[in-house]
Amino acid sequence: MRILTWVKPTDSQFHIGNYFGAIKPMLHLADKFKDAEIFLFLANMHAFTQLHDASALKQNGINIVKLYAACWVDLERFIIYNPAEIPWHAQLGWIFTCLTHMGFMERMHSYKEALDKGKAKEISIGTFCYPILMAADILLYDANIVPVGKDQKQHVEYARDIAMKFNNEFGETFKMPDVYIQEEVATVLWVDGRKMSKSYNNYIWLLDDEKTILKRVKQIPTSTLAIEEVKNPDECNVYKICKLFLTPEEDEILRKRYLAWGLSYKDVKEYLYEKIISFVQPIQKRYAEISDETIIALVNKNTKKVNEIAQKKIEEIYKKVGFKL
Ligand code: ADP
Ligand code: TRP
Repeated sequence: MRILTWVKPTDSQFHIGNYFGAIKPMLHLADKFKDAEIFLFLANMHAFTQLHDASALKQNGINIVKLYAACWVDLERFIIYNPAEIPWHAQLGWIFTCLTHMGFMERMHSYKEALDKGKAKEISIGTFCYPILMAADILLYDANIVPVGKDQKQHVEYARDIAMKFNNEFGETFKMPDVYIQEEVATVLWVDGRKMSKSYNNYIWLLDDEKTILKRVKQIPTSTLAIEEVKNPDECNVYKICKLFLTPEEDEILRKRYLAWGLSYKDVKEYLYEKIISFVQPIQKRYAEISDETIIALVNKNTKKVNEIAQKKIEEIYKKVGFKL
């Protein structure tokens, strides 16, 4: 069984929300499907629809893979590769482009989102065709499971549709990928009630220094209840964030402290600060130990291996559509 997952290098870092919402569920999934092969690719061709800064695109990719490794993603198990160096993604994308109607693409979430942000005539064709390239990313490798957030579900469904259309027209070629939505994935909210996000400037990067983290924690608004008053943990912003980092036993102890006399917000903020620090410190230490060269060599090696799989598949496809002389 093959699981296909990705990371889009539009940034060079991850915040705590990305960790709990993307990395941790991926580690769980790997654990759940112990025998599955896991392909994890840098969605740099997709990021190129937004980011036209060559050094940022390159360095973001390197830093992000490094951060995955620092977050205990097993680089032996997760095959991380660079699809931009595998020509068959774009080739297969072209074949699908010729089989897809404009009207179909106009209904896609990525295009509609771009429309909401700006003028239709200024949306790149790349953005318009984004799900087509995505379908090629998936179908080239006969992926069985594609774990995605709700926003990407429609795109994977398009991949299934185009696979079916191709199979009907040219004979059985592609496997149907299954969308895997991880419903239980938590959305990390910050104290402003919005999800932690780069767009809202309410994040803590995994690589933030102690001073920055302390500043964020100090900024958390609390109620005016005095020390001697009993407090409801579920109404406290500090507790809600703290909970992310606690074991069930630690959680129980902290809840009891809220419900008893004598809990000061200063103490609980210190506790939260320490929890965040002890969470990010080992990640930061590992991150600092991995060199860019190690990452580049690993990704290049994997890319060569994955290219062979893709090439075999494209040969079959070329024969079916008549591209092979
Ligand atoms: P941002 O909103 O900061 O731009 P991205 O859109 O780049 O983050 O998200 C990258 C991944 O992290 C996605 O899988 C997304 O679902 C997840 N993610 C982002 N923010 C959060 C959050 N606050 N809580 C849980 N998951 C999140
Ligand atoms: N569209 C995804 C995103 O915006 C990235 C992506 C590209 C992808 N190719 C894919 C996701 C293939 C799943 C499968 O985040």
